[in-house]
Amino acid sequence: MSARINGVELEWREQGEGAPILLIHGFPFNSAMWGPQLAQLPQGWRGIAPDLRGFGASAGSDDAVYTMELFARDLVALLDHLGAEQAVVCGISMGGYIAFEFWRLFRDRVRALVLCDTRAGPDSADARRGRERLAERVLTEGDAVVIDSMLPRLVSMSTRYGQPGVLELVRAMMKETPPETMARALLGMAARPDAEPVLRTIDVPALIVVGAEDAITNRGQAEFLARGIRGARMETIENAGHLPNLEQTDVFNRVLHSFLSGLPQTTFSTSRI
Ligand code: MLT
Repeated sequence: MSARINGVELEWREQGEGAPILLIHGFPFNSAMWGPQLAQLPQGWRGIAPDLRGFGASAGSDDAVYTMELFARDLVALLDHLGAEQAVVCGISMGGYIAFEFWRLFRDRVRALVLCDTRAGPDSADARRGRERLAERVLTEGDAVVIDSMLPRLVSMSTRYGQPGVLELVRAMMKETPPETMARALLGMAARPDAEPVLRTIDVPALIVVGAEDAITNRGQAEFLARGIRGARMETIENAGHLPNLEQTDVFNRVLHSFLSGLPQTTFSTSRI
């Protein structure tokens, strides 16, 4: 599905009817990474998985930097377009950085948060410089500099050797991302604000998920989120790296479904139309 949102032609995948759950992909992927979740959403849920601007089938814009705020503003405009008053906001990695911005700016639109393989703290000065350098290199040398640096760290050993299809999907999503989008989103991640002060303001149910072998965001960072958000539930997924929703689909879906089924009933309308 597609629509012009904030001046950009955005695409999204949608499945099911009922209470909305917004699934925000990581960097440099697209909505295809939520395929196994959309396919198995429980009855009564409407999954909405956008391609962020510049990613997947969505058009890009010439903003020099795709900030996490810019993405969050696109997502709230998409919810407006879809008539969704509130949504469970689920983000993985960069999608989690965006979820924090979404919460900071539009908390009355958030029914609950699912934060997967992500962290609240900003980049260190070194990490920021590294991202800025990578943003320059991807524009001159092409997507391989990003793909080659990320691919070996993305999944667990058992996924690498036991589920070649997962790595193929991950590589295909990365290949679909134009170098300009990679550069703009790298600069956006480098500039993202510190979300640690936001944690104690979160007063909706929260689920923290992390792959036990995540080499990009680790269990300590997930535990930090779980300690910082009042009442948060944390789940560690064994035999998974940075992408547990793709690597251990059944376990991830069980954890997600159990969280969704435990949410308090909404008293608001899920539609503005
Ligand atoms: C992601 O998966 O979105 C990225 O690894 C996030 C990051 O580079 O910080």
